[in-house]
Order: sequence, then structure tokens, then C-alpha cells
Amino acid sequence: MSKAVNIDWSTLGFSYMKTDFRYVSKWKDGQWDDGALVEDNNLSISESSTALHYGQQCFEGLKAYRTKDGEIQLFRPDQNAKRMKNSCSRVLMPEVSEEKFIDACIQVVKANEAFVPPYGTGATLYLRPFVIGVGDNLGVRPAPEYIFSVFCVPVGAYFKGGVAPVNFMTSEFDRAAPYGTGAAKVGGNYAGSLFPHQVAVKKGFADCIYLDPATHTKIEEVGAANFFGITTDDKFVTPISPSILPSITKYSLMHVAKEYLGLEVEERDALVDNLGEFKEAGACGTAAVITPIGGISHKDNLHVFHSETEVGPVTKKLYDTLCGIQFGDVKAPEGWIVKVK
Ligand SMILES: Cc1ncc(COP(=O)(O)O)c(C=O)c1O
Repeated sequence: MSKAVNIDWSTLGFSYMKTDFRYVSKWKDGQWDDGALVEDNNLSISESSTALHYGQQCFEGLKAYRTKDGEIQLFRPDQNAKRMKNSCSRVLMPEVSEEKFIDACIQVVKANEAFVPPYGTGATLYLRPFVIGVGDNLGVRPAPEYIFSVFCVPVGAYFKGGVAPVNFMTSEFDRAAPYGTGAAKVGGNYAGSLFPHQVAVKKGFADCIYLDPATHTKIEEVGAANFFGITTDDKFVTPISPSILPSITKYSLMHVAKEYLGLEVEERDALVDNLGEFKEAGACGTAAVITPIGGISHKDNLHVFHSETEVGPVTKKLYDTLCGIQFGDVKAPEGWIVKVK
């Protein structure tokens, strides 16, 4: 059980903070050990680990939410477990079972309960599961050993003064190749995104929008989040492509849009030359929650959707419903919530 902590929940951002316990499990000779909670936040690994040289690793991101009555719950951890299995298999790492993944997350949240922000602050406990290839190795081949670990960090509400739109620009760079690793949550995709992100920020944008790598005509991702648009006739549209990371928030919003808001939902191309079909647009992800997109700059032309300063009404309803489900104020679909306490 963790000690009482003295944190100003209202000013928390998205920064690393050492919490009391993390879970570590090791794979050797064909199997995972039972894993255990440890206090040391440093890993000691071989200098020749494949994770360091060849990017043989993957990670996940999910949150624990404190509800009004003080309980703690995870949002769709089975989906993160499934996605991590896919990422592991894409880079030839041993899979972590869904059961082991969820058990590790629950252990970490329980052991760090004092770091789970109170209900009403909008802050949450972010969990970062990851698998890395370790052990002595030199050539380009799968590692002889692996580590699966989960650590947690309290993170602040994404929007401090209410949900507000930001602008993005399309990038000339690609985050993933047509048949590459875009659909896996592997570190290499993110190393390659650092420079395009910096270019966008230097030009005054929140981040860049990646277009489809083959033709550069369709929207794929908004930084490290998925894209959605609300058409002028009230359809929820989100791109489909094998190089997009399948966002759990996006698939959850598709369900919310259809079942809670009564919207038609389409997973199909969103052409960057046809942005006028959308009256609202947004970026969605675990960290970004729903970030309304004020405008998108493409080839130096800024297309503004609903407004550069105000969130649109459909996006606001999606945001309120999704957060309501995550914090336990709105009834969740069957199986979406896993109670920790
Ligand atoms: C590249 C990328 N796209 C989309 C997302 C959003 O996915 P999720 O909603 O599962 O957090 C993330 C974050 O995990 C991401 O890194």
C-alpha cells in the first residue's frame, strides 16, 4: 500500500513522476515468470539489448479513474491487452496474456492507490505497460530474454479551462509505411514522429496530421491520436487504414456516437481536399481524450471547422458521454469497466 501523497491535482500535467511500485515480469527459456511489484524505478539491462539497438519493444497506455463514490476503475483494459499482443507479435516478442496484463495493471493501481487522483479533479492515473527485448545479443534477431513491466503516473486533466480547440497542420513526413508497423504501438513509430512534431510546433500548431503514406490525400492520424469528423448531415466519420494505430478511444467513440447519440457511423477515407464535408472535427486518444480540431492547415491553407475557439456541440456531447462513462457517471456498455476497488 502506498503512502499518503501531497500532490496538487489541479496543476498536474503529463509528466513522469516516480510512484511507489511498478510491476516487473521476466521472460526466459520460453516462459514468463510470475512477476512482482518492485520499488526500484531503474531497469538494469544488457548494453546489447535489442530494445536499445533495433527497437524491439512495444508499449501501451490506459488510465485508472476515481469515481464519485471513491471506487477506482479501468477503462477497457482488455482492449489494450489485445493490442499489446498484436504489437508483440509484429516485432516477434512473446505475447503477454490478457489475464496477466490486466492482473499487472490492477496490482499496480492497488499498490499506488494514494496516487489515484480524487473524483472531480479531472486527473487520472495513467498506466504505461511495456515489453522490451533484453539480454546479450548482437545481430538483428529477436532477443533471448524479455521484460514486461507496468508503471503508473498521475496525470492532470487534459483541458484545464474547459475543452478548447487547437489547430494542426498536415505533414510532408510519414509516420508509417503502407505495410509497415503503423498499426502496432512500437517505439520506432514515435522516434520517427519527433521531428515532424517539432516542425509543426515551430510553425505554431499543436501537432501535425499524417496523411496516408501511399498517396498523401487521406487523413490518417493526428499526432499520437486518431481523427474523427462530424459531417454536415451528422455522421461520425473516422478513417480506416492498415497504417493507423487502432485507437481504443476511437472505437469507443464509434459506439458512443451510434448508441448514445444516435449518429450514423462510417469508418472510411477522409480526404484532405474535402474537409468541407465536416462541420466539426476532433482528435481522440487516451491522453488527448477528445481534442476538438479548430482548423487544419494543408499546403498553407487553413480550413476552419466549427470554430477556432469554441468546441462544437456534437464533439462536446461525445466528450461528456465518454468522460461520463470513464468516471462512472454514465452507464457503460457491458464489459467496458473493470473495477479495481
Ligand atoms: C499513434 C497513436 N494513435 C492513436 C492513439 C490513440 O489510441 P488510444 O485511444 O488507444 O489511446 C495513440 C495512443 O495510444 C497513438 O499513439
